[in-house]
Amino acid sequence: MQQAPDVQPKHVPVALDRCIALLAPAIEKSIAQNKSAVIIDATLGLAGHTRELLMRYPELTVIGLDRDLSAIAIAQENVKDFGSRAVIVHAVYDTLETVLEDLEIDSVDGILFDLGVSSMQLDEADRGFAYSQDAPLDMRMDQSQGISAYEVLMTYERNALIRILRNYGDEKFAPRIVDRIIEARSAGTLNSTKALAEIVKESIPAPARRTGGNPAKRTFQALRIEVNQELASLERAIPAALRVIKVEGRIVVMSYQSLEDKIVKAEFAKVCKSGTPLGLPVDLPNSAAKYRLIFSGSESASANEIESNPRAQSMRLRAVERLAA
Ligand SMILES: C[S@@+](CC[C@H](N)C(=O)[O-])C[C@H]1O[C@@H](n2cnc3c(N)ncnc32)[C@H](O)[C@@H]1O
Repeated sequence: MQQAPDVQPKHVPVALDRCIALLAPAIEKSIAQNKSAVIIDATLGLAGHTRELLMRYPELTVIGLDRDLSAIAIAQENVKDFGSRAVIVHAVYDTLETVLEDLEIDSVDGILFDLGVSSMQLDEADRGFAYSQDAPLDMRMDQSQGISAYEVLMTYERNALIRILRNYGDEKFAPRIVDRIIEARSAGTLNSTKALAEIVKESIPAPARRTGGNPAKRTFQALRIEVNQELASLERAIPAALRVIKVEGRIVVMSYQSLEDKIVKAEFAKVCKSGTPLGLPVDLPNSAAKYRLIFSGSESASANEIESNPRAQSMRLRAVERLAA
Protein backbone atom coordinates (compact mmCIF):
# COMPACT_ATOMS: atom_id res chain seq x y z
CA MET A 1 0.00 0.00 0.00
CA GLN A 2 1.26 3.49 -0.91
CA GLN A 3 1.72 6.24 1.74
CA ALA A 4 -1.21 8.69 1.88
CA PRO A 5 -0.34 12.14 0.48
CA ASP A 6 -1.82 15.16 2.31
CA VAL A 7 -5.33 16.00 1.16
CA GLN A 8 -6.99 19.39 1.07
CA PRO A 9 -9.51 20.57 1.98
CA LYS A 10 -10.70 18.15 4.64
CA HIS A 11 -13.18 15.73 3.13
CA VAL A 12 -14.69 12.43 4.29
CA PRO A 13 -15.66 10.08 1.43
CA VAL A 14 -18.99 8.31 2.00
CA ALA A 15 -19.05 4.48 2.42
CA LEU A 16 -15.39 4.32 1.40
CA ASP A 17 -14.60 0.79 2.61
CA ARG A 18 -17.90 -0.63 1.35
CA CYS A 19 -17.41 0.85 -2.15
CA ILE A 20 -13.89 -0.55 -2.34
CA ALA A 21 -15.03 -3.97 -1.06
CA LEU A 22 -17.71 -4.06 -3.77
CA LEU A 23 -15.24 -3.17 -6.53
CA ALA A 24 -12.44 -5.38 -5.14
CA PRO A 25 -13.33 -8.74 -6.79
CA ALA A 26 -13.36 -7.13 -10.24
CA ILE A 27 -10.09 -5.26 -9.63
CA GLU A 28 -8.33 -8.26 -8.11
CA LYS A 29 -9.41 -10.63 -10.87
CA SER A 30 -8.12 -8.28 -13.53
CA ILE A 31 -4.82 -7.73 -11.70
CA ALA A 32 -4.38 -11.51 -11.39
CA GLN A 33 -4.97 -11.95 -15.14
CA ASN A 34 -3.48 -8.80 -16.69
CA LYS A 35 -1.24 -7.34 -13.95
CA SER A 36 -3.32 -4.18 -14.25
CA ALA A 37 -6.88 -2.95 -13.82
CA VAL A 38 -8.88 0.17 -14.71
CA ILE A 39 -11.68 1.80 -12.75
CA ILE A 40 -13.69 4.88 -13.71
CA ASP A 41 -14.52 7.22 -10.85
CA ALA A 42 -17.40 8.97 -12.64
CA THR A 43 -17.77 11.61 -9.90
CA LEU A 44 -14.20 12.34 -8.91
CA GLY A 45 -14.96 15.29 -6.59
CA LEU A 46 -11.95 15.81 -4.36
CA ALA A 47 -10.74 12.30 -5.26
CA GLY A 48 -11.52 10.78 -1.86
CA HIS A 49 -12.50 7.38 -3.26
CA THR A 50 -9.94 7.54 -6.06
CA ARG A 51 -7.00 8.12 -3.72
CA GLU A 52 -7.93 5.22 -1.52
CA LEU A 53 -8.32 2.90 -4.53
CA LEU A 54 -4.93 4.00 -5.89
CA MET A 55 -3.30 3.48 -2.50
CA ARG A 56 -4.74 0.02 -1.99
CA TYR A 57 -3.98 -1.27 -5.50
CA PRO A 58 -0.57 -0.25 -6.93
CA GLU A 59 -1.45 -1.96 -10.25
CA LEU A 60 -4.66 0.08 -10.66
CA THR A 61 -5.33 3.06 -12.94
CA VAL A 62 -8.29 5.29 -12.11
CA ILE A 63 -9.92 7.49 -14.74
CA GLY A 64 -11.57 10.27 -12.76
CA LEU A 65 -14.31 12.40 -14.35
CA ASP A 66 -15.87 15.57 -13.04
CA ARG A 67 -17.79 18.37 -14.70
CA ASP A 68 -16.60 20.89 -12.08
CA LEU A 69 -13.30 22.59 -12.90
CA SER A 70 -12.60 23.63 -9.31
CA ALA A 71 -13.10 20.03 -8.11
CA ILE A 72 -10.73 18.89 -10.86
CA ALA A 73 -8.06 21.37 -9.75
CA ILE A 74 -8.20 20.12 -6.14
CA ALA A 75 -8.40 16.46 -7.19
CA GLN A 76 -5.32 16.90 -9.37
CA GLU A 77 -3.40 18.16 -6.36
CA ASN A 78 -4.74 15.30 -4.19
CA VAL A 79 -3.61 12.55 -6.59
CA LYS A 80 -0.40 14.07 -7.91
CA ASP A 81 1.74 11.47 -6.12
CA PHE A 82 0.16 8.69 -8.19
CA GLY A 83 1.50 9.98 -11.52
CA SER A 84 -0.04 8.47 -14.65
CA ARG A 85 -2.15 6.00 -12.62
CA ALA A 86 -4.61 8.86 -12.06
CA VAL A 87 -6.10 10.09 -15.35
CA ILE A 88 -8.29 13.11 -14.72
CA VAL A 89 -10.75 14.31 -17.35
CA HIS A 90 -13.10 17.30 -17.30
CA ALA A 91 -16.28 15.64 -18.57
CA VAL A 92 -19.94 15.01 -17.83
CA TYR A 93 -20.24 11.36 -16.84
CA ASP A 94 -22.76 10.48 -19.54
CA THR A 95 -19.92 10.97 -22.06
CA LEU A 96 -17.83 8.23 -20.45
CA GLU A 97 -17.77 6.16 -23.65
CA THR A 98 -16.23 9.07 -25.59
CA VAL A 99 -13.68 9.56 -22.81
CA LEU A 100 -12.68 5.88 -23.10
CA GLU A 101 -12.49 6.10 -26.91
CA ASP A 102 -10.17 9.11 -26.62
CA LEU A 103 -7.97 7.12 -24.22
CA GLU A 104 -8.15 4.09 -26.56
CA ILE A 105 -9.63 1.89 -23.82
CA ASP A 106 -12.39 -0.59 -24.79
CA SER A 107 -13.70 -1.65 -21.40
CA VAL A 108 -13.07 -1.22 -17.68
CA ASP A 109 -13.19 -3.35 -14.54
CA GLY A 110 -15.46 -1.13 -12.52
CA ILE A 111 -17.24 2.21 -12.30
CA LEU A 112 -18.10 4.22 -9.21
CA PHE A 113 -20.77 6.93 -9.06
CA ASP A 114 -21.00 9.08 -5.91
CA LEU A 115 -23.82 11.32 -7.11
CA GLY A 116 -24.88 14.87 -6.34
CA VAL A 117 -22.96 17.87 -5.13
CA SER A 118 -19.80 17.69 -3.08
CA SER A 119 -19.30 19.25 0.33
CA MET A 120 -16.78 21.56 -1.36
CA GLN A 121 -19.47 22.82 -3.78
CA LEU A 122 -21.86 23.44 -0.88
CA ASP A 123 -19.15 25.19 1.13
CA GLU A 124 -18.03 27.51 -1.69
CA ALA A 125 -20.48 30.32 -0.91
CA ASP A 126 -20.33 31.98 -4.34
CA ARG A 127 -21.52 28.85 -6.20
CA GLY A 128 -25.13 29.44 -5.10
CA PHE A 129 -25.89 25.83 -4.05
CA ALA A 130 -26.53 26.63 -0.39
CA TYR A 131 -29.69 28.40 0.77
CA SER A 132 -27.93 29.25 4.02
CA GLN A 133 -25.32 31.48 2.32
CA ASP A 134 -25.98 34.62 0.29
CA ALA A 135 -24.61 34.31 -3.26
CA PRO A 136 -25.48 34.86 -6.92
CA LEU A 137 -28.07 32.36 -8.21
CA ASP A 138 -25.65 30.20 -10.19
CA MET A 139 -25.84 26.47 -9.15
CA ARG A 140 -23.93 25.24 -12.22
CA MET A 141 -21.55 22.40 -11.41
CA ASP A 142 -19.67 23.31 -14.59
CA GLN A 143 -19.32 27.08 -14.51
CA SER A 144 -17.68 27.04 -17.94
CA GLN A 145 -21.02 26.33 -19.69
CA GLY A 146 -24.79 26.02 -19.44
CA ILE A 147 -27.41 28.29 -17.93
CA SER A 148 -27.51 29.42 -14.33
CA ALA A 149 -30.37 29.17 -11.83
CA TYR A 150 -30.87 32.93 -12.33
CA GLU A 151 -31.48 32.41 -16.06
CA VAL A 152 -33.88 29.54 -15.33
CA LEU A 153 -35.84 31.66 -12.86
CA MET A 154 -35.86 34.74 -15.11
CA THR A 155 -36.78 33.06 -18.40
CA TYR A 156 -38.85 29.89 -17.82
CA GLU A 157 -42.63 30.11 -18.08
CA ARG A 158 -44.79 29.78 -14.97
CA ASN A 159 -45.91 26.22 -15.76
CA ALA A 160 -42.39 25.03 -16.46
CA LEU A 161 -41.18 26.42 -13.12
CA ILE A 162 -44.10 24.81 -11.28
CA ARG A 163 -43.30 21.48 -12.92
CA ILE A 164 -39.64 21.70 -11.89
CA LEU A 165 -40.45 22.51 -8.26
CA ARG A 166 -43.05 19.74 -8.11
CA ASN A 167 -41.17 17.02 -9.96
CA TYR A 168 -37.64 17.64 -8.72
CA GLY A 169 -38.39 19.11 -5.29
CA ASP A 170 -41.68 17.44 -4.39
CA GLU A 171 -42.84 20.94 -3.45
CA LYS A 172 -46.55 21.09 -2.54
CA PHE A 173 -46.63 24.87 -2.63
CA ALA A 174 -45.00 25.17 -6.06
CA PRO A 175 -47.66 27.48 -7.62
CA ARG A 176 -47.51 29.92 -4.68
CA ILE A 177 -43.72 30.01 -4.76
CA VAL A 178 -43.60 30.46 -8.53
CA ASP A 179 -46.15 33.31 -8.45
CA ARG A 180 -43.93 35.16 -5.98
CA ILE A 181 -40.85 34.41 -8.08
CA ILE A 182 -42.60 35.93 -11.09
CA GLU A 183 -43.55 39.05 -9.09
CA ALA A 184 -39.96 39.38 -7.87
CA ARG A 185 -38.48 38.97 -11.33
CA SER A 186 -40.72 41.77 -12.66
CA ALA A 187 -39.71 43.95 -9.72
CA GLY A 188 -36.01 43.16 -10.30
CA THR A 189 -35.55 41.84 -6.76
CA LEU A 190 -34.73 38.23 -7.56
CA ASN A 191 -31.00 38.67 -7.40
CA SER A 192 -29.48 36.31 -4.85
CA THR A 193 -29.87 32.98 -3.05
CA LYS A 194 -30.98 34.93 0.01
CA ALA A 195 -33.76 36.68 -1.96
CA LEU A 196 -34.94 33.30 -3.31
CA ALA A 197 -34.85 31.63 0.11
CA GLU A 198 -36.89 34.55 1.49
CA ILE A 199 -39.47 34.26 -1.32
CA VAL A 200 -39.89 30.55 -0.60
CA LYS A 201 -40.29 31.17 3.11
CA GLU A 202 -42.93 33.86 2.55
CA SER A 203 -44.85 31.66 0.09
CA ILE A 204 -45.29 28.76 2.49
CA PRO A 205 -48.14 28.92 5.03
CA ALA A 206 -46.84 29.40 8.58
CA PRO A 207 -47.91 25.95 9.93
CA ALA A 208 -46.04 24.19 7.08
CA ARG A 209 -42.93 26.25 7.81
CA ARG A 210 -42.65 24.73 11.25
CA THR A 211 -41.94 21.20 10.01
CA GLY A 212 -39.40 19.54 7.74
CA GLY A 213 -36.36 21.83 8.07
CA ASN A 214 -35.61 24.87 5.94
CA PRO A 215 -38.47 25.32 3.42
CA ALA A 216 -36.00 26.52 0.74
CA LYS A 217 -34.32 23.10 0.63
CA ARG A 218 -36.81 21.62 -1.84
CA THR A 219 -36.76 24.59 -4.21
CA PHE A 220 -32.95 24.72 -4.22
CA GLN A 221 -32.72 20.98 -4.91
CA ALA A 222 -35.22 21.28 -7.77
CA LEU A 223 -33.37 24.18 -9.40
CA ARG A 224 -30.01 22.47 -9.05
CA ILE A 225 -31.37 19.36 -10.78
CA GLU A 226 -32.76 21.46 -13.63
CA VAL A 227 -29.67 23.65 -14.04
CA ASN A 228 -27.35 20.64 -14.24
CA GLN A 229 -29.82 18.34 -16.02
CA GLU A 230 -28.85 15.81 -13.37
CA LEU A 231 -31.52 13.19 -14.01
CA ALA A 232 -31.20 13.21 -17.80
CA SER A 233 -27.44 12.84 -17.44
CA LEU A 234 -27.83 9.90 -15.06
CA GLU A 235 -30.40 8.24 -17.34
CA ARG A 236 -27.80 8.24 -20.12
CA ALA A 237 -24.83 7.41 -17.89
CA ILE A 238 -26.03 4.15 -16.31
CA PRO A 239 -26.70 2.37 -19.64
CA ALA A 240 -23.33 3.69 -20.91
CA ALA A 241 -21.61 2.32 -17.79
CA LEU A 242 -23.33 -1.05 -18.25
CA ARG A 243 -22.03 -1.19 -21.84
CA VAL A 244 -18.37 -0.53 -21.00
CA ILE A 245 -17.74 -2.85 -18.05
CA LYS A 246 -16.01 -6.16 -18.69
CA VAL A 247 -17.56 -9.50 -17.85
CA GLU A 248 -17.24 -9.74 -14.04
CA GLY A 249 -16.84 -5.96 -13.96
CA ARG A 250 -18.87 -4.05 -11.37
CA ILE A 251 -20.78 -0.77 -11.07
CA VAL A 252 -21.37 0.83 -7.68
CA VAL A 253 -23.73 3.81 -7.32
CA MET A 254 -24.42 6.01 -4.31
CA SER A 255 -27.51 8.25 -4.63
CA TYR A 256 -28.59 10.92 -2.19
CA GLN A 257 -32.17 11.57 -3.28
CA SER A 258 -35.01 9.32 -4.35
CA LEU A 259 -35.26 10.53 -7.96
CA GLU A 260 -31.68 9.46 -8.66
CA ASP A 261 -32.07 6.19 -6.78
CA LYS A 262 -35.22 5.40 -8.77
CA ILE A 263 -33.33 5.76 -12.05
CA VAL A 264 -30.47 3.55 -10.86
CA LYS A 265 -32.87 0.91 -9.54
CA ALA A 266 -34.86 0.83 -12.79
CA GLU A 267 -31.80 0.69 -15.08
CA PHE A 268 -30.26 -2.13 -13.02
CA ALA A 269 -33.58 -4.03 -12.88
CA LYS A 270 -33.93 -3.89 -16.68
CA VAL A 271 -30.62 -5.65 -17.31
CA CYS A 272 -30.81 -8.11 -14.42
CA LYS A 273 -34.05 -9.60 -15.68
CA SER A 274 -34.04 -12.87 -17.61
CA GLY A 275 -35.85 -12.78 -20.97
CA THR A 276 -37.15 -16.35 -20.43
CA PRO A 277 -40.94 -16.48 -19.88
CA LEU A 278 -41.94 -17.09 -16.26
CA GLY A 279 -42.52 -20.75 -15.37
CA LEU A 280 -39.79 -22.32 -17.52
CA PRO A 281 -37.32 -24.30 -15.39
CA VAL A 282 -34.17 -23.06 -17.20
CA ASP A 283 -33.25 -19.94 -19.17
CA LEU A 284 -33.82 -20.16 -22.92
CA PRO A 285 -30.63 -19.78 -25.01
CA ASN A 286 -29.57 -16.10 -25.17
CA SER A 287 -32.25 -14.96 -22.77
CA ALA A 288 -30.44 -15.32 -19.45
CA ALA A 289 -29.76 -12.01 -17.70
CA LYS A 290 -26.33 -10.57 -18.54
CA TYR A 291 -25.99 -8.75 -15.20
CA ARG A 292 -26.82 -9.56 -11.60
CA LEU A 293 -27.54 -7.41 -8.57
CA ILE A 294 -24.67 -7.97 -6.11
CA PHE A 295 -27.20 -7.63 -3.27
CA SER A 296 -30.94 -7.14 -3.51
CA GLY A 297 -32.43 -3.72 -2.82
CA SER A 298 -30.27 -0.88 -1.57
CA GLU A 299 -27.90 -0.41 1.36
CA SER A 300 -27.67 2.62 3.65
CA ALA A 301 -24.73 3.97 5.61
CA SER A 302 -24.21 2.61 9.13
CA ALA A 303 -25.46 4.59 12.14
CA ASN A 304 -21.82 5.22 13.12
CA GLU A 305 -20.96 6.67 9.75
CA ILE A 306 -24.07 8.88 9.73
CA GLU A 307 -23.14 10.20 13.16
CA SER A 308 -19.68 11.27 12.02
CA ASN A 309 -20.68 12.29 8.46
CA PRO A 310 -24.28 13.60 8.24
CA ARG A 311 -24.06 13.66 4.41
CA ALA A 312 -24.22 9.85 4.53
CA GLN A 313 -27.73 9.94 6.02
CA SER A 314 -29.68 9.95 2.76
CA MET A 315 -27.22 7.73 0.86
CA ARG A 316 -28.58 4.66 -0.95
CA LEU A 317 -26.06 2.24 -2.41
CA ARG A 318 -26.72 -0.16 -5.30
CA ALA A 319 -24.31 -2.43 -7.14
CA VAL A 320 -24.37 -4.66 -10.19
CA GLU A 321 -22.01 -7.18 -11.82
CA ARG A 322 -21.75 -8.18 -15.47
CA LEU A 323 -22.20 -11.92 -16.02
CA ALA A 324 -21.85 -12.23 -19.78
CA ALA A 325 -20.87 -10.25 -22.88
C1 LIG B 1 -20.44 13.74 -4.04
S1 LIG B 1 -19.19 14.41 -5.02
C2 LIG B 1 -18.03 13.14 -5.20
C3 LIG B 1 -17.05 13.04 -4.05
C4 LIG B 1 -15.94 12.05 -4.29
N1 LIG B 1 -16.41 10.68 -4.34
C5 LIG B 1 -14.87 12.18 -3.22
O1 LIG B 1 -14.80 11.31 -2.34
O2 LIG B 1 -14.13 13.16 -3.24
C6 LIG B 1 -19.92 14.43 -6.59
C7 LIG B 1 -19.06 15.05 -7.68
O3 LIG B 1 -19.63 14.64 -8.92
C8 LIG B 1 -19.61 15.72 -9.82
N2 LIG B 1 -20.72 15.50 -10.74
C9 LIG B 1 -22.04 15.53 -10.48
N3 LIG B 1 -22.74 15.26 -11.58
C10 LIG B 1 -21.84 15.02 -12.57
C11 LIG B 1 -21.95 14.67 -13.95
N4 LIG B 1 -23.14 14.52 -14.54
N5 LIG B 1 -20.81 14.48 -14.64
C12 LIG B 1 -19.59 14.63 -14.04
N6 LIG B 1 -19.43 14.98 -12.76
C13 LIG B 1 -20.53 15.16 -12.03
C14 LIG B 1 -19.77 16.95 -8.96
O4 LIG B 1 -19.22 18.06 -9.62
C15 LIG B 1 -19.02 16.57 -7.68
O5 LIG B 1 -17.70 17.03 -7.72
